[in-house]
Amino acid sequence: MRQFNEDTLTAAVVERIQRGTKDERFREILASAVKHLHAFARDVHLTEEEWFEGIKFLTSVGQKCDDKRQEFILLSDILGLSMMIVALNHKAPAGATEATVLGPFFAHGAKEYGYGADLREGATLKGEDVYVSGRVLTTDGKPIPNAVLDIWQAKADGIYDLQTEGEFELRGRVRANEKGEYALKSYKPKFYSVPMDGPVGDLVRRTGNHHMRPAHMHAIVSAPGYQPVITHVFVEGDPYLDNDAVYAVKDSLVGKYRKVDDAAEAKRVGMPNPFIRLDWDFRLAAEAGVKARKKIAASDAIA
Ligand SMILES: [Fe+2]
Repeated sequence: MRQFNEDTLTAAVVERIQRGTKDERFREILASAVKHLHAFARDVHLTEEEWFEGIKFLTSVGQKCDDKRQEFILLSDILGLSMMIVALNHKAPAGATEATVLGPFFAHGAKEYGYGADLREGATLKGEDVYVSGRVLTTDGKPIPNAVLDIWQAKADGIYDLQTEGEFELRGRVRANEKGEYALKSYKPKFYSVPMDGPVGDLVRRTGNHHMRPAHMHAIVSAPGYQPVITHVFVEGDPYLDNDAVYAVKDSLVGKYRKVDDAAEAKRVGMPNPFIRLDWDFRLAAEAGVKARKKIAASDAIA
């Protein structure tokens, strides 16, 4: 076949993909991507100069990535694609903790802790002391023993450890005890700007949108026999809850960080007085009975 025009080209490309691609799912995805990309070009009547600008942009996104910086995840987050994929794939069964974006700042190799983990260890910047505790439960409220909670969050200045040259900070793999209880010490999360010093930042500025994320603690909670959940705990009252730059806020994930001024309680949990306390339970759905999909273990969430 030859002599293609804007009305016949798409079908020819799709036919060629469908003829030669053995993997059924890959064939479906690639053919659909081509159909939508062609439709997009037709829709806006994309010029060569404009498409070259697009290629330059994607090139710069790739060049901004390294072992700490993931500009493509940020792009996916900003365009709402990450939350679209979460929405499609993680409809939490009744009673289970809802999922939200992974974001670009997850890292492998965080230090392992047990009950009472102090994630403030080695912190280069102090913040408001927070004691977080709760349980990891089934959807009907039974304790799940020995779950692992991968926790990470920004420092008090809204910057993640991965954005600096230093060591891991406010990050750890915290194991719950046999009764499903976990506890950790950290600093109160602060709202922050997504990284604006790269091509995705330029894109955000060009759209006139704001670039803030409401304060949150990230968590991946996993236990054998249960679906892991990639989630956040947001801070009640944060000014950016209603306009998160990456569309990740869910009402069920907003936690109350309450001030405690009680010397006895502070002593009991090993905190200075006063301090801030968050009581937060995570609930995991059992693997059985849920539509099969690739398991995401805490250890390979973005592998
Ligand atoms: Fe974050």
